[in-house]
Amino acid sequence: MTKVDVLLGLQWGDEGKGKIVDVLTGDYDLIARFQGGPNAGHTLEFDGQKHVLHTIPSGIFHPNTMNLIGNGVIIDVLILHRELTKLIDKGAIPSKNLLISKKAHLIIPTHRMLDAAYERSKGEMKIGSTLKGIGPTYTDKVARNGLRIGDFLTANFMEKYQNLKEKHLQILDSYGFEYQTETIEGMSLEEYEKQWFSAIETVRTIPFVDSEHYINQQLKAGKRVLAEGAQGSLLDIDFGSYPFVTSSNTISAAVCTGLGIAPNKVGKVYGVFKAYCTRVGSGPFPTELSNDTGQLLRDNGHEYGSTTGRPRRCGWLDLPALRYAIMLNGVTDLIITKADVMDSFETIDVCTHYNIDGEIVDMIPYELNNAGIEPVFKSLEGWKTNISAINKIELLPTTFMDYIRFVEQEAEVPVTIVSTGPDREQTIIR
Ligand code: GDP
Ligand code: IMO
Ligand code: MG
Repeated sequence: MTKVDVLLGLQWGDEGKGKIVDVLTGDYDLIARFQGGPNAGHTLEFDGQKHVLHTIPSGIFHPNTMNLIGNGVIIDVLILHRELTKLIDKGAIPSKNLLISKKAHLIIPTHRMLDAAYERSKGEMKIGSTLKGIGPTYTDKVARNGLRIGDFLTANFMEKYQNLKEKHLQILDSYGFEYQTETIEGMSLEEYEKQWFSAIETVRTIPFVDSEHYINQQLKAGKRVLAEGAQGSLLDIDFGSYPFVTSSNTISAAVCTGLGIAPNKVGKVYGVFKAYCTRVGSGPFPTELSNDTGQLLRDNGHEYGSTTGRPRRCGWLDLPALRYAIMLNGVTDLIITKADVMDSFETIDVCTHYNIDGEIVDMIPYELNNAGIEPVFKSLEGWKTNISAINKIELLPTTFMDYIRFVEQEAEVPVTIVSTGPDREQTIIR
């Protein structure tokens, strides 16, 4: 019996999960997403081409590996249809190596309008949601109102759909949200709905399965499984910087509920982190740099959202936050990405502690949303070498390795993979 290894993000998302999953896929028989939805944007690069996935696991470009959209994921069939169509245009045959859990919940068009209505009503306190309908869909799931993709196979799907839509329209009315004239991606509700319904046809070409049975049978048969996280630990609904979080558990515990595997079936936990920090959307960010260095990180790192194109906020690496994420996830292996973005830096700051109203602490406090939190930095020497062209660990500059060792010491977990650029090939396994 094998176990499920997990790969997830340790910061506020966009750590480079998609790239690393693609690199590791060669070692696995099955890649499974377990939470989140099209709020995710996972970028892969190989053969000079860039691909962005939102709902589909990042193992899809390896025809001999199966990919599973687990029950914990939520699906907008129109967005999934677009992803499938792009893949098919590129010569992939997703109907051969992709499966969807029947229990995955559906994001229906009015969920997206609700997302917009709720954000608007929050004014200054808005979350900065990707507006993909994530919050309202998970709300309906927990409120026991939701629709699941397996419901497409039932005779009264249209009735269930109309009932849910009707509830949504009443809420929209109560928010003064004029759904008759408002748009989703520039489309009227009617038009989006029309496209959404015709998208079902493409989505139906992918087998709907009882994925909890499937995955456990795979483990029994000795198959190697990797669970791919979306978002990041600091966006977790319970442990993130609430309320500026997403609406799912993003930590390793969610693999059990999002795929239907028992806790004793979790194996390695790969934690991916950027050599600095980014955040897209609102919410606290203690090490944020609102200066030229922040802009340099954004420019060098092309820090613009893969899903929404929004500029990402940038700042120094935050070790108290990283240690917290490592603790919550039981990380066994660290993976560092994007250090190459700082190749030209003379010095690199790393936050080791916070100064909260004069008290020095090394733990993330209950209220991260506190203007009184001052990061305490340690300044490390930059390596001033182009590391993106290096493909062997022993060829990396000593100053860079000193920096890695410092992080390892602080994190108490080894860094086993170093990503030195966006391409599949720019990866050093230690
Ligand atoms: P994900 O959501 O965690 O999969 O990450 P995204 O794809 O949203 O954002 C990561 C971005 O950084 C993408 O544009 C990747 O192509 C890119 N990337 C990943 N790893 C590296 C790296 O080591 N160096 C550089 N320069 N870019 C990277
Ligand atoms: P990947 O998987 C970065 C952020 C949004 C917003 C908050 C809530 O690519 O790392 P939501 O749409 O979930 O209601 O938005 O969470 N967010 C992400 N930020 N990467 C992501 O996914 C994200 N998914 C959601 O910007 O602040
Ligand atoms: Mg992303």
